[in-house]
Amino acid sequence: MKERTYAIHTYGCQMNRLESQIVAGKLESAGWKAAAPDSASLVILSTCSVRAKAEQKILSKLRSIRGNERGASGRKLVGVMGCVAQQMKEQLVEPPYCADFAIGIGGLARFDEVLRRLLAGERGLVIAGEDGRYDLYYDLDKVKRSDSRSAYVAVSRGCSNFCTYCIVPFVRGPIRHREPKSVLAEVRQLVDQGFIEVCLLGQNVNNYRYENVEFHHLLEDVAQIEGLRRLRFITSNARDLTIETVRLMATPPLMPYISLPMQSGSDRILALMNRGYMSAEYLEKVSWIREIVGDAAISTDIMVGFPGESEVDFEATLDAVRQARFENIYSFKYSPRPFTKAAAFNDPIPDAVVRRRFQQLLDLQREIQLDRMLSFEGKVLDVLIDGVSKKDPNVVCGRAGQNIVVNLHHDRCRLGDLVKVRIEKANPHSLSGKVIGRAD
Ligand code: SAH
Ligand code: SF4
Ligand code: F3S
Repeated sequence: MKERTYAIHTYGCQMNRLESQIVAGKLESAGWKAAAPDSASLVILSTCSVRAKAEQKILSKLRSIRGNERGASGRKLVGVMGCVAQQMKEQLVEPPYCADFAIGIGGLARFDEVLRRLLAGERGLVIAGEDGRYDLYYDLDKVKRSDSRSAYVAVSRGCSNFCTYCIVPFVRGPIRHREPKSVLAEVRQLVDQGFIEVCLLGQNVNNYRYENVEFHHLLEDVAQIEGLRRLRFITSNARDLTIETVRLMATPPLMPYISLPMQSGSDRILALMNRGYMSAEYLEKVSWIREIVGDAAISTDIMVGFPGESEVDFEATLDAVRQARFENIYSFKYSPRPFTKAAAFNDPIPDAVVRRRFQQLLDLQREIQLDRMLSFEGKVLDVLIDGVSKKDPNVVCGRAGQNIVVNLHHDRCRLGDLVKVRIEKANPHSLSGKVIGRAD
């Protein structure tokens, strides 16, 4: 191999992003340098299999990388990690994909070994373990954070919920909780390195429990770390959300933001999904957040077209959306996944109906969302600057505590600044305003 250069394409959730950063860190400490995907001698796809579409996109990317290389000199190494690797294992190193290696969730801890064997000329390596278990602890010093101010910290791996539509428990294995002192040590180290914001990660983050330490105890301990300015966590399950956690969200460093997937507003569908809560309980928890946390933003995930979803069920979802008044919705069309119970459920919903319901949900949310965003006009929000607009270099952007994008005209702002911003204008997906001072 001429040069040791690498590129990683990351798909899927925050856990995948963190795992890409862990692998990038391992590569760099072994002397590899980041490069553009076209010129890199090693390309890794960090993959997601949560919906069929995500998986297809990745598989066609894999084929196209191999296709583009045909005839090129110096053949590049192409590998797959993440959930699709765990799911497909050997199939990925065989035609038509012909990846040089596939490292499932179960194999990530052996990445150094894979690299050594690749450099020694081995190809077609598959390391996936049986059930996606792997060592929870990673080498903190090596993680290559993609942002110098905001960092992800995993508090658990895997998920044991077995929602009937979801592949995650099958590819990532059962939930394993990380020892609190290890989480605290990582956050302390990040703060010492100048990080302002930490986001605790778990597929079902508030299901955390280590001996007698529950999620809100862990949050409380992390919140007390001197110098930590912003603390977030993702993704919460309504079943496991406690009033103690909501109370903590009302005071910094906790941020007034929660991702709380609802999936459906119909009790019948929620039961078929095995979500572990009913619509009334979900909405009650939303009202706790609205009452206890000032100016909170709630984001949710909603799935349309689950097997057997009737018009009445779908209407119940629309009703719940009207009541909850989410600041943001990620909506998905149900897609059957391997290994899952729901894949065998009868009564699929015709595509045309799914598309119509999906559009109805978007239309309803558009109105609600604009209204929610307008409610921020005139307010002063703390914003962490994290980028420059692609369209206009004089516009910088950042994120409010509510996790809403805020655009600002301000030439004195620098990346990583935490500033107070008076919101002047609301757009459907972002806010804009003027800096009125520093937020410290
Ligand atoms: N752990 C999170 C969700 C992780 S997957 C939780 O418990 O909510 C992210 C989102 O993808 C889910 O909230 C769900 O809305 C969607 N999703 C998962 N499996 C899906 C499937 N088979 N078809 C369509 N959407 C799906
Ligand atoms: Fe999947 Fe449910 Fe676990 Fe979320 S809680 S990862 S949707 S099984
Ligand atoms: Fe996707 Fe795996 Fe995350 S399936 S959503 S990358 S846990």
